[in-house]
Amino acid sequence: MQTIPFLDLKRQYQQIRQEVLAATETVFEATAFSGGPFVDRFETEFAAFCETPYAMATNNGTTALHLAMLALGIGEGDEVILPANTFIATAWGISYVKAKPVFVDCHPDTWEIDPAQIEAKITPRTRAIAGVHLYGQPFDIDAVRAIADKHGLFVVEDAAQAQGARYKGKRVGGFGDIACFSFYPGKNLGAYGEAGGLTTNREDYHRHVQILKNHGSTVRYHHDEIGYNYRMDGLQGAILSIKLRYLDGWNNRRRDIARQYQTGIVNPRIKMQAQPDWAESIYHLFVVTTDDRDGLVKHLQAQGVSPGLHYPVPCHLQKAYAYLGHREGDFPASEYLASHCLSLPMFAELTDQEVAYTIDSLNAWQ
Ligand SMILES: Cc1ncc(COP(=O)(O)O)c(C=O)c1O
Repeated sequence: MQTIPFLDLKRQYQQIRQEVLAATETVFEATAFSGGPFVDRFETEFAAFCETPYAMATNNGTTALHLAMLALGIGEGDEVILPANTFIATAWGISYVKAKPVFVDCHPDTWEIDPAQIEAKITPRTRAIAGVHLYGQPFDIDAVRAIADKHGLFVVEDAAQAQGARYKGKRVGGFGDIACFSFYPGKNLGAYGEAGGLTTNREDYHRHVQILKNHGSTVRYHHDEIGYNYRMDGLQGAILSIKLRYLDGWNNRRRDIARQYQTGIVNPRIKMQAQPDWAESIYHLFVVTTDDRDGLVKHLQAQGVSPGLHYPVPCHLQKAYAYLGHREGDFPASEYLASHCLSLPMFAELTDQEVAYTIDSLNAWQ
């Protein structure tokens, strides 16, 4: 029987192996292990890629979110609005600065933060809205920005899953006051270890993040404020620079696979994410919903196809946030997704035959 993995990072490594090994040697020879020229170069290249003046490299996407909150001056007693349907790290950044995460539901069709539900959650303590470009598809940034501007709030883009996605033709990362990225190995632009970053149009946020991530220091052993060691490894910077050159091609291949899924899957029991005209997804994940997830997962596994699950518990029902007092039923669209979604195999190196096999397996399910 054929087996289709959910994700196979080795296929991509085999394509770029020579370049990666040569870069590793270069970093080792330069002994540029933490921060340094390879990270600086990646920051310049990633800023250009995102069409923003500034990019700041970090040691993962969660610390990038923490730094974003710090740079915006968000702290104890403040509130930040975010979708209930996201990976938990969007909320961690808010909690790390002792602010309160205030969840809103996602839109039942786009599965992204629902702008129509945001205003009801704004209080005098609200400081920011953190939207998430979930599964690689941009949220409705203009609608969120209009609400933020009306109420004097910051906008943070959690672009952890969306390197290269476009909103109304422009790359994500430059719409918010600050944007955060993850280069976790399984992301579209994935490091060979932990890595993350931020982008911004603001020189002051750029400078402050660079200081905060480096022990609150501009002059060695002089610390003007409490800082963090959130620097990126030199090795990750060098590898990400190589991979960035391939990213548009890999993202295009994911779009091609997504199109095959969108046109090929005709089983009426399977529903897909709605795609507004302005959203150009990079399909970090291809999530579908169905009335009987367990049944579909068993069927796919019996066919040798491995699905993923993103995410089984919405943030507001996580034990870590029990203190917020949420109950089942608070955010029906997010809860429906959590109990009915599954993610189809999605990575640039999937072959057309593997995609066709997966589509046939889905259509054969009754
Ligand atoms: C939406 C979202 N936000 C934040 C993160 C955190 O990134 P990292 O795993 O690099 O800390 C991730 C990735 O895991 C994510 O998917």
